[in-house]
Amino acid sequence: MAGLKPTWGYSSGRRPLNGLRGVPALGLLCKANRASLQARNRHIVAHRTQKRGRIVRLTIKDYKSIGHADLDLRSGLNILIGPNGSGKTCLLSSLKFLRDAFRLGAAQALARQGGARRVYRHGCDAISFALADSYGQRIYHHGRVACSLSWGMTVKQAAAESIATISNETLTIAPDDNPGHPLFFIAVSRKGSFQKATPTINLPPITDFGRDLFKFWDSEYSSQPKARVAEAFPKLLKQILGRVLDEPDKSFLPALAAFDPVLANIIDSFTLLNEYNIVPDVARASSEQLPFAQMAPNGAAVSLVVDALENERYHKLEQVQWLELDDDYRSQRYFMERHSPQYYGYRRYYSPYSQRMTSPSLPQALANINKELAAAVRPITHVTVTTDPTNGKRFVVFMSGAEAFYPEEVSDGTVKWLCLLVSLFVPFSRVYLLEEPENFLHPWMQQRLIAVMREQAKQNNTIFFLSSHSATILNGAHPEEILIVTNWGCPVS
Ligand SMILES: Nc1ncnc2c1ncn2[C@@H]1O[C@H](COP(=O)(O)OP(=O)(O)OP(=O)(O)O)[C@@H](O)[C@H]1O
Ligand SMILES: [Mg+2]
Repeated sequence: MAGLKPTWGYSSGRRPLNGLRGVPALGLLCKANRASLQARNRHIVAHRTQKRGRIVRLTIKDYKSIGHADLDLRSGLNILIGPNGSGKTCLLSSLKFLRDAFRLGAAQALARQGGARRVYRHGCDAISFALADSYGQRIYHHGRVACSLSWGMTVKQAAAESIATISNETLTIAPDDNPGHPLFFIAVSRKGSFQKATPTINLPPITDFGRDLFKFWDSEYSSQPKARVAEAFPKLLKQILGRVLDEPDKSFLPALAAFDPVLANIIDSFTLLNEYNIVPDVARASSEQLPFAQMAPNGAAVSLVVDALENERYHKLEQVQWLELDDDYRSQRYFMERHSPQYYGYRRYYSPYSQRMTSPSLPQALANINKELAAAVRPITHVTVTTDPTNGKRFVVFMSGAEAFYPEEVSDGTVKWLCLLVSLFVPFSRVYLLEEPENFLHPWMQQRLIAVMREQAKQNNTIFFLSSHSATILNGAHPEEILIVTNWGCPVS
C-alpha cells in the first residue's frame, strides 16, 4: 500500500456535482494512503489510479452514519474495510436504498431499510443522493462536444407521520468545457408530500444540436424535420413526467431511462443490484420448475439454475431488466410497442436500451462451478439436480463419484459456497454486495472467492462491494481495490 499514489478530486472529464463540493464530511470513505488522507481529511474519496471501465460517481449525504461519501461505481473489486461501527454496512445499505427508491419509491425504500427513525442521519431531516456520469460526445454546431450528466435528489420527511417525499430532483446535461450552460435541465421540487410538483424543463435550441443529443430524438423523430422535434419533444417529456409528479416519493429517472441508453445504464446498475446473504436451508429446499431460472440472493431456487446449466437451457438464465411501471405511462407504452420487439404487455415494460444479463461463458459455467466446489470440499466431485417424485420439484444433489449426498447431508459452508459460485458464474447482478464472507468461508475459499470475482468483473463488468475484517482477503487484495471506511474523519492505515 505504501507506494500507492491516488488521484484526489474529480477525475478528468467529470465535473463536481452542484452544491456538493466542500461539504464537511463526517463519514469518511477513503483510499489506503495515509499522507493523502491527512491532506484532505475532511473529504470523502473513493478514487483509484487505475482505470477500470465506465465510472458512475455516487454521492451520498446524511444517510444513517454517513455524513458525506463519494463512491465510484466501477467494475472490479471494492473491498470496504474499517473498524466496527465505521459505516461499512451503512454504505451498502445506502446502495440498496437507492435501488428500492428507483424501483418502488422513496417511502418503501425507507421502510425496507428500517424506517425513517433509523435511516435519516441523527439530527438531519433530509438524505441526498447524486450521480455523475459521462454523456459521451454529442454533435453541436457541426462539431463534437464531450458532455456529462448529473442527477440529484433529496428525500425529506415533512413530519414524523407524513410519507417520505422527494423534495428536490434535478437532471442536467452540460458540455464539459462549459458546465455553467446546461444543454438540458429538468428540476422538480415539492414543498409537502401532498403538493403537486411543477417541473422546470429547459431544452437546448434544437437547431444547434445533432439528432444524437438524446437517443430519443434520434429514434423517435429520425424521419421528421427538426422543427417538428422541437414542437413535439417538450410535450412528450411533460407527458412522461406527468404521472411521476403526482407521486411525491417517485423519482423521474426510471421513467426517462426507458428512452435513453446512458440513463438506462445507470438504472440497470441499480435494478440489478443484489446483496447476497445465502441461507443454507433456503438453498437446500426444492423448487418448482419455472419458465426462467434465477437464484435469489438468499440462495432460493439454486437448483433451477444448476438444472438449466446441466440441460443447456441457457435462455432460461438470461436476465432482462424489467421496469414495473404503471399503465398510465401511456407515452412509454406507445414507445415500447413501436420500438421494442420485447413488449411484454400490461403493466410491464422493457426499455429497449437495457441490457440483458448474459455471460459468454455460460456453457463452461457448470464445469467451473464443479471445479471450484471439488477443489474446496472433499470428497464432493460435482453437483447435479434430482426431481422429487412426490411433487415434481427439483433439488440439488452433491455427488462424490457415484455416491449421492442429499442437501441435508452436506455442510452449511458447502451449500453457501455452491450458491456463491452460482451467483458468480451465472451472473444475476451488475452491482454485487457481500458482507463479511470470512464469517462462513475457509481462508482458502476466501482467496478463491476474490480471484473468481476478479475474473468475473473483467468478463461481465460487475461491480463488487465486499465488507471484510479478514486478513486473508486483505492480503489477497490489490491496493487499489481497498477502500477504508472511517466514521469521524480519522484515517486508518
Ligand atoms: N441513523 C443514524 N444516524 C447516525 N448514525 C447512525 C445511524 N444509524 C446507524 N448509525 C451509526 O452507524 C454505526 C453502524 O455502522 P455500520 O453497521 O455500518 O458499521 P460497520 O462498519 O458495518 O461495522 P461492523 O464491522 O461491526 O459490521 C453505528 O455505530 C451507529 O452509531
Ligand atoms: Mg457491518
